[in-house]
Amino acid sequence: MSTSSNLRADFVWGVSTASYQIEGAAQEDGRGPSIWDRYCRQMGRIANGDSGDVACDHYHRYAEDIGLMRALGVGAYRFSVAWPRILPAGRGVVNVAGVAFYDRLIDALLTAGIEPWLCLYHWDLPQALDDRGGWVSRDCASWFADYVAIVARRFGDRVKRFSTFNEPSVFTLLGYALGLHAPGVADRIAHLRAIHHVNLGHGAGLDVLRSSVPGVSIGAIHNYQPCHPSPDTPQNAAAAELFDAYWNRAFADPQLLASYPPSIADAIEPYQQAGDMAAICRSVDWFGLNHYSPIYCKADARALLGFSFADPPAHLDRTGIGWPINPDAFRETLTMVADRYRLPIYVLENGYGGPEQPDASGQIEDLARIEYLNAYTEAMQAAISAGADVRGYFVWSLLDNFEWAYGYVQRFGLVHVDYASQRRTPKASAGWYARKIAASRQLLASG
Ligand code: FCB
Repeated sequence: MSTSSNLRADFVWGVSTASYQIEGAAQEDGRGPSIWDRYCRQMGRIANGDSGDVACDHYHRYAEDIGLMRALGVGAYRFSVAWPRILPAGRGVVNVAGVAFYDRLIDALLTAGIEPWLCLYHWDLPQALDDRGGWVSRDCASWFADYVAIVARRFGDRVKRFSTFNEPSVFTLLGYALGLHAPGVADRIAHLRAIHHVNLGHGAGLDVLRSSVPGVSIGAIHNYQPCHPSPDTPQNAAAAELFDAYWNRAFADPQLLASYPPSIADAIEPYQQAGDMAAICRSVDWFGLNHYSPIYCKADARALLGFSFADPPAHLDRTGIGWPINPDAFRETLTMVADRYRLPIYVLENGYGGPEQPDASGQIEDLARIEYLNAYTEAMQAAISAGADVRGYFVWSLLDNFEWAYGYVQRFGLVHVDYASQRRTPKASAGWYARKIAASRQLLASG
């Protein structure tokens, strides 16, 4: 096990999840439908026709799941609040039972000594708001701010770590340009508008948090992945550059540097109004970084934006889900993000996915995940040694869960979930992570 001596004394080890991926109870206690409920019902969208209706039944089993976190020894748990559980119609009447669920969850976390990190939006927009245009409508930024005000008022006495959006570039590109995620739109103008309106929502939500939660610590969560042309031709290189602007910088740059990347600024210009950039670029406390792998792309004249995903070069090692394994790209990404945005970084997602199954004795010896996590945490520590101010690391994910368009086939959990019985079984990697955290604490205590 590697030395942990270059970590800060307050370094946070955590795990991450998201509401639609684990909660289930989709029709219970007054929760309204989200765009993912609708999308999952459309034929052919999700592997095996799966949905998050039941997922990990975390809504009922959260206490057991907090027990699993305690066994890992994590100091923090990043979860998301389902907007349609708080506001079934997206606006207006608050669902008291939905608020009560998160009250129970937060109180139980605090009792267990685990800090709640609350993400306000992990992709489950209330369907009622999508019916009014969703993120394509400029009004969605203020609908979001109104929802944030309720969450801040109800939970801000106990929760201090808030993030606005999880991976805005993923849900806007896949949801509004490529039609691969909810709401399943493939329209260039819808995509551009959604980008700008989510950025406005970030700024508006952030202002609400800042003014209503004493001692709040706020960030946004960005996926950041080096984009490479595959194969490496001049056309593909140009496509990779444009992809990088949409994928890595369309949100981080305006939110933190007050400008859109030059290659997409003109396209977004028609949807901007005077004062927008000042409203988007607000002071944040940290950069939430999600990273799994580099990404490969190619020019594609038939694609809406002129590029599409490409296969990684065949010689690269891959995870079970097929994502290239390259810890060095993680180290470089951390250094680059630290230099470019000059903020403390929390790695809020990193992990290994694959279609693994228990062996004959019911155990899951996920050695490939352990190898991946080991290499990636070492790469993180190398970035810290090189000067990146990384203050925390959260594994995606605590549990196997509903992996969006992959349904339940691909598993990212440290803990295996048998969906038929809802039985949880910690995998070998859960033991590895618990030992890693304990060793890191011990080193700090002795150093
Ligand atoms: C990220 C998402 C998360 C999960 C992981 C594997 O893009 O934020 O919900 O699906 O990928």
